[in-house]
Amino acid sequence: MTGAVHTPRDGGGANRRTPRVFSGIQPSGHLTLGNYLGAMKRFVDMQESGTETIYCIVDLHAITVWQDPAALTRATRELAAGFIAAGIDPKRSVLFNQSQVPAHAELGWIFSCVARIGWLNRMTQFKDKAGKNREAASVGLYAYPTLMAADILAYHATHVPVGEDQKQHLELTRDIAIKFNQDFGVDFFPVVEPVIEGAATRVMSLRDGSKKMSKSDPSDMSRINLTDDADTIAKKIRKARTDPEPLPDSVEGLEDRPEARNLVNIYAALADTTPGAVIADHAGQQFATFKPSLADLAVAKLAPISEEMGRLMEDPAEIDRLLGHGADRAAEIAEPILARTRDIIGMVRSR
Ligand code: TYM
Repeated sequence: MTGAVHTPRDGGGANRRTPRVFSGIQPSGHLTLGNYLGAMKRFVDMQESGTETIYCIVDLHAITVWQDPAALTRATRELAAGFIAAGIDPKRSVLFNQSQVPAHAELGWIFSCVARIGWLNRMTQFKDKAGKNREAASVGLYAYPTLMAADILAYHATHVPVGEDQKQHLELTRDIAIKFNQDFGVDFFPVVEPVIEGAATRVMSLRDGSKKMSKSDPSDMSRINLTDDADTIAKKIRKARTDPEPLPDSVEGLEDRPEARNLVNIYAALADTTPGAVIADHAGQQFATFKPSLADLAVAKLAPISEEMGRLMEDPAEIDRLLGHGADRAAEIAEPILARTRDIIGMVRSR
């Protein structure tokens, strides 16, 4: 994966604008291998490709479900440390936490007035997260996708790297931009391009190949956390659920084998190669052989990140300083876009 930003397919505005990448991660719980491979590692590739990159720790999104205040503070700093340890350079990318730039909340409100209830009713993530007792879910959890659209569009971002699970939210972001532009007869907000690519756009649970690897899964054995030490990573991979067959000799042979496919995809993403290349190297191998190779690879790639995170976490004041600098840079971009948005809507500039 080169991380290069491709020319958008549609003629909806993104292709006429200077490419600008935006993405976000919630500071809730520890970072997982899914977040790392599906998002963060690709954020680094995009930074390296030379495109302007803005990365946000979305604390306003995190509070759509209950967060213990002290845990939220810690998770925010830990995520900032994770970004930097994984290779995000706060000088080259804008790195900040969402709550420090008020434009997100304000544009989120405006977009709540653009999006239709019917659109939000179709969001599968809300249905999953709210569960059976929807009446007890927060209004914020329901309106979440409008805030996400605001995160992206407050920067006129054109490209958004995410994992597969965010696809529907990005479609809604496109719908909001299109409706705003149509309602007010402008070509103001870009119609963003989701960037969902690579071998690990959907990393699955290590215990159940039909479920996404997630920080909220009750079983810690289902996921690898970026804070896990080498022994824990190796143990989790050794105990990962698999089937009794050896690895096939082609990618097609993985079709009805979700657990095997997941481990091959993880290997490919960690090694910066394709599932086909992994299969070519390991065809016919038993899991008793493949799993230790995967564990060695995972430890080699993740242990330096986890160590660096630990080191950065020793100086929380420095993390806060870096986030503050990022928030200043983010606000410089977002504020003029917000001011123009208010003008378009017809709000009087009273000062
Ligand atoms: P969040 O915090 O749940 O996840 C952050 C990123 O990690 C990806 N991801 C995965 N990718 C592959 N396999 C997995 N098992 C896996 N689990 C998580 C997610 O797809 C995501 O890219 N709503 C977003 C945060 C957000 C955002 C935004 C993203 C808020 N505003 C604006 C992009 C642009 C979320 O909850 O991600």
